[in-house]
Amino acid sequence: MNATNFEIPAIDATRLPGLLRSMPKAELHMHIEGSLEPEMIFRLAERNGVKLAYASVEALREAYAFTDLQSFLDIYYAGASVLLTQQDFYDMARAYLDRAVADNVVRAEMFFDPQTHTERGVAMATVIEGLHRACVDAEREQGISAALILCFLRHLPEEAALQTLEDALPFRDRFIGVGLDSSEVGHPPEKFARVFARARDLGLHLVAHAGEEGPPAYIWSALDVLGVERIDHGVQAVHDPDLMDRLARDRIALTVCPLSNEKLCVFPTLADHNIQRLLDAGLAATVNSDDPAYFGGYMNTNFTRLFEQVPGLTAQHAYQLAFNSIEASFAAVADKQRWQVQLRECFERA
Ligand code: ADE
Ligand code: ZN
Repeated sequence: MNATNFEIPAIDATRLPGLLRSMPKAELHMHIEGSLEPEMIFRLAERNGVKLAYASVEALREAYAFTDLQSFLDIYYAGASVLLTQQDFYDMARAYLDRAVADNVVRAEMFFDPQTHTERGVAMATVIEGLHRACVDAEREQGISAALILCFLRHLPEEAALQTLEDALPFRDRFIGVGLDSSEVGHPPEKFARVFARARDLGLHLVAHAGEEGPPAYIWSALDVLGVERIDHGVQAVHDPDLMDRLARDRIALTVCPLSNEKLCVFPTLADHNIQRLLDAGLAATVNSDDPAYFGGYMNTNFTRLFEQVPGLTAQHAYQLAFNSIEASFAAVADKQRWQVQLRECFERA
């Protein structure tokens, strides 16, 4: 299972939570709109004169009892309706990046959903410039490396995705790739073949959500029709041995989101999560927070709760997960090498 050639020293289990928190790591799967905490939703609603369907922060939080992906998405899109100005997008992203820095995230690749905003009349420039300015300022002031990935909403037609990509082209240098999110089942990756081909021609990185609730066939078509470099979620791959072999052989990273999977009932409990099976089969699995304000925690909470609940996970798995996240990031090679040295030193010191 170890692609790193680094046998870590024996580490006492009591020291593992501290190590999980302190190790340098990359976050590759988080939706910036999913970092809107209820308090910020209410603050922005007041600032912008937006009416909410919930009477209080507590009432909103109580609604966070999800049964599947769609039950979450309905509330998530309602929450995003408070975002109107460039400053709103900036404040949201800075708040997330503060949390990421506190969790020793050295690299954050953040998804954003422009269609959620442009459909409400918010300009593409407002969305992208606000988020971009937050990345630049956080990098300068806090040293975190941050980048943006533009996601297409898969419940909408491909024509809308094509138009969104064209509308974003004046800001081509502000994002590093494209992704595919929203309601998965019934919207297979191949529905977006043309827009991904166009993004590839533009030199953008390609990722897609596949195998969160959808079948292994969606992971195959994300790889073979869209040509993605990473699979977001991908936990349903375990149902297809040939696919497991392919993912391991090509070291295609899976950006797994444990607390999201628990809250959206992808697994009965967190203890039933298949992350160890993925790692032990040689897959480049990583840990991520997805929509941290909705699912009960940011990066380090995902790591510590996962390792608390899944019995067989060891320090070697922790090292592998952090190593994979850095390896699979779209950062510059020199940065990745520097972070991997820091990771190794962190485990040698432990
Ligand atoms: N948008 C935000 N979070 C998502 C998830 N977990 N799956 C699909 N689309 C999303
Ligand atoms: Zn996601």
